[in-house]
Amino acid sequence: MAETTLRDKVAVIGGGEKNLGGLLSRDFADAGAKVVVHYHTGENEAEQTVKAIRDAGGQAVSVHGDLTKVADVRRLFDTAVDTYGGADIAVNTTGMVLRKPILETSEEEYDRMFGINAKAAFFFIQEAGRRLNDHGKIISLGTSLLAAFTDGYSTYAGGKAPLEHFTRAAAKEFADRHISVNTVAPGPMDTPFFYPQETPERVEFHKSQAMGHQLTQIEDIAPLIRFLATEGWWFTGQTMFPNGGYTTR
Ligand SMILES: NC(=O)c1ccc[n+]([C@@H]2O[C@H](COP(=O)([O-])OP(=O)(O)OC[C@H]3O[C@@H](n4cnc5c(N)ncnc54)[C@H](OP(=O)(O)O)[C@@H]3O)[C@@H](O)[C@H]2O)c1
Repeated sequence: MAETTLRDKVAVIGGGEKNLGGLLSRDFADAGAKVVVHYHTGENEAEQTVKAIRDAGGQAVSVHGDLTKVADVRRLFDTAVDTYGGADIAVNTTGMVLRKPILETSEEEYDRMFGINAKAAFFFIQEAGRRLNDHGKIISLGTSLLAAFTDGYSTYAGGKAPLEHFTRAAAKEFADRHISVNTVAPGPMDTPFFYPQETPERVEFHKSQAMGHQLTQIEDIAPLIRFLATEGWWFTGQTMFPNGGYTTR
């Protein structure tokens, strides 16, 4: 029997078409939520995710957006309000990874990395704070690199680092309305996002750093996000590291 813990809730999932975001869209719909599935380039994946939700008896709609543009972030939340009458949960899984030495990183790469990992994350939190109903939940995706001392990921870890501060400030600023704000920061996850930046040797190294010598699976992360979106309202202003003990220290 399907869970109904999110019955009558509306969830906006940034990057909700595939991988972790796709799983969350289907999970939340399974639990009774109406889901706004955001996508960037993955129109087909968004259609498939929405179809899977509708075929299972749930409600979902897809919306395109480049979330580095504030107008597109606003349109995402407009869609939730116009289609379902409001929003209760906002999860931003968008991001971009680059593994490159500082000395080889261009201005264009820096701007692109900070555009999606920092600017889009900020305005997603801002718009969620404006548009969510009281008792809402805001969850952003960070990376376990926020706690690492390592090379190569300056613009990825650096681009995600402001999330911790955005999260704490928003948790304070939205607390009167009982809106909780958190960042979930997984270790290397077994999705197509991860592999293009790594060599086979480094993939093996990353596996060696976690419990059971394996990469994080999206199914390992989804339960924490589901918890934060449901019973976990008292957890706020936190960055959580569900990473199987992964460390690159
Ligand atoms: N996989 C890992 O190893 C790992 C580890 C720790 C944390 N994370 C974080 O977890 C989150 C989910 O990652 P994932 O593995 O599930 O990969 P993913 O599905 O590729 O997630 C990244 C999402 O960001 C979207 N995106 C990129 N640029 C965008 C833009 N300008 N506007 C709007 N959306 C944009 C991508 O869409 P397009 O592909 O269409 O551009 C994609 O939907 C990311 O924030 C990532 O940083 C990943």
